[in-house]
Formats: sequence, structure tokens, C-alpha cells
Amino acid sequence: MNIFADNIMKDKVVLITGGATGIGKGIATLMGQYGASVMIASRKQPVLERTVDDLKALAIDADYCVCDIRDPAAVEELMKTVRARFGSLDVLVNNAAGNFPAAMDQLSPNGFKTVVDIDLNGTFNMTKGAFDHFFKSVGGNIINISAPFAGWGVAYQAHAAAAKAGIDSLTRSCAVEWQSLGIRVNAVAPGAVSNTEGLERLSEALVGSNNGSTDACQAEDIANSVLFLASDAARFISGEIIRVDSATGVDLLKIPMPADA
Ligand code: COA
Repeated sequence: MNIFADNIMKDKVVLITGGATGIGKGIATLMGQYGASVMIASRKQPVLERTVDDLKALAIDADYCVCDIRDPAAVEELMKTVRARFGSLDVLVNNAAGNFPAAMDQLSPNGFKTVVDIDLNGTFNMTKGAFDHFFKSVGGNIINISAPFAGWGVAYQAHAAAAKAGIDSLTRSCAVEWQSLGIRVNAVAPGAVSNTEGLERLSEALVGSNNGSTDACQAEDIANSVLFLASDAARFISGEIIRVDSATGVDLLKIPMPADA
């Protein structure tokens, strides 16, 4: 069943980092099904190829570009590839993230830095790249994928929570700076989402009973929120962080820490 009007994203170009798997693939699929041309980017070519095949099988105009968003030079190349392949960019979805569960006393400086580099610095690099190459002259739409726990404390995710809190702050600052340029910047903060690597990597104890239950959050639920923010229905929404977890994220605070994490 279509929730939105058919072809609501027709003639739009959407770039999604981490678009080959999980939530990113869900966003790419939904955007494409509503008419967008889709570019997905991540580090692993075989996974990108498979997802583009899946998108094309749904008659979606899709392509991929291998890119490590930590590398500003690689991001430059990605923007040039988008220009060459699609001619323009309307929506950037900063979805790529790296994560692992680790207690503070198990986190090395490089472990902390690695996650901040991917999540926060990668989002900065992509945002700057899209602004310089596309949005500063014609406006645009940026949607960052955050996490509910960025707004409170959570065990074994100090690195990811710090990075996501930085993304929330960047979201608000860019929204204010670029409001007059017709650039909207928002974030969606998903809780535990079924069938994602992120959920697999977090322990059962941390995510409670959400995984596998019939009413668990699906990638499509996150994608619908992203599509709403990308659409004109949200034309006066900017600088917002929308939590999409049906309040289950709050449960993370109550669950005992796993003894072996
Ligand atoms: N606990 C503690 N430290 C860890 C760790 C863990 N489970 N996993 C990685 N680290 C540390 C490493 O020890 C290293 O620090 P060191 O040099 O001090 O030893 C640092 O993090 C970098 O790890 P490395 O594997 O070299 O980095 P990478 O860039 O290849 O990959 C990730 C980093 C985060 C992307 C990796 O965990 C990964 O591949 N994850 C799968 C994809 C993913 O995260 N998906 C998103 C889920 S939300």
C-alpha cells in the first residue's frame, strides 16, 4: 500500500550513504519506488552491486559509487560522479555509520576516533560536498540518520552516542545557516530496527524484545519518515531531530548491562 502520493519523488535525485544494506537500502528502495533516481555509496563494491541489481529489478533508476566518507577527496569524487550520472542532486541522506558495542574501559583512542570519523566527520564531509557541488546555488534537502540515545546516556555506546549527538548539533546549525538558501536539514533517529547489522551487533540485552517481534520497527518505517522529510509536506520543517522508535528507545536505559560486553 502506498502511503504517499504516487511519484512524489519523480525527477528527484537522492544520494544515500550506506545505501546498500539495512536502513539505507530501505530508504533507497522507498525513494526509488516513489519515482526518485537513486545513487548509493559505501565502501564495499560487491554489496553495492547486489543492491543496485535489486533496485533495477524494481525498475528504479539506480547506480552506485564506492566511497569512504571519512576521506574528503573520495567525497569530492562521489559528488562528481553524481553530477556526471544524474546531473543534479535534490536529497542527501547521511545514513552511513560504523559501530560496535564496547564499554568505555575497552575503548581505545582509535576505537573512539574511528566511530566519530565515520559517523560525525563523514556526515560533515558529505554535507559540505553536497553544499559546495549542488545545494548552495539551488537549495536542497539533507536528512541525517541519528540515534535516540544521542540525547541521553547509554551503556556500551559512548562513542556512537557522542558521534550522533554531534550529528544532531550539526543538523541544527546547518539548518539555521542555510535556511535562507532553501536548504532544509533534519535528522531521523531510529531505535532498534529489525534485520539490520546494527541490531545484530548490539546484544539482545541492550535491545530487549524488539528484535523479531511482529510489531518491530522495519527499515521501511524509517524510510517513510525520511521520505516525509524529503517531501514538500515538510517544507517548513528544518533543524528537527525526529525520533522514530515508538518510545522503545527509552527502554535502553532500564535494561541491565550485559555481563560479558
Ligand atoms: N571493541 C572495542 N574496540 C573495537 C571493536 C570492539 N568490538 N571493534 C573495533 N574496535 C577498535 C579497533 O580495535 C581499532 O582500535 P585500535 O587500533 O586501538 O585497536 C579501531 O576500533 C578501528 O578498528 P578497525 O577494525 O581497524 O576499523 P575499520 O575502519 O576497519 O572498521 C568499523 C571500523 C566500526 C566500521 C567496524 O567495526 C566495522 O566494520 N563495522 C561493521 C559495519 C558497521 O559498523 N555497520 C554499522 C552498524 S550500526
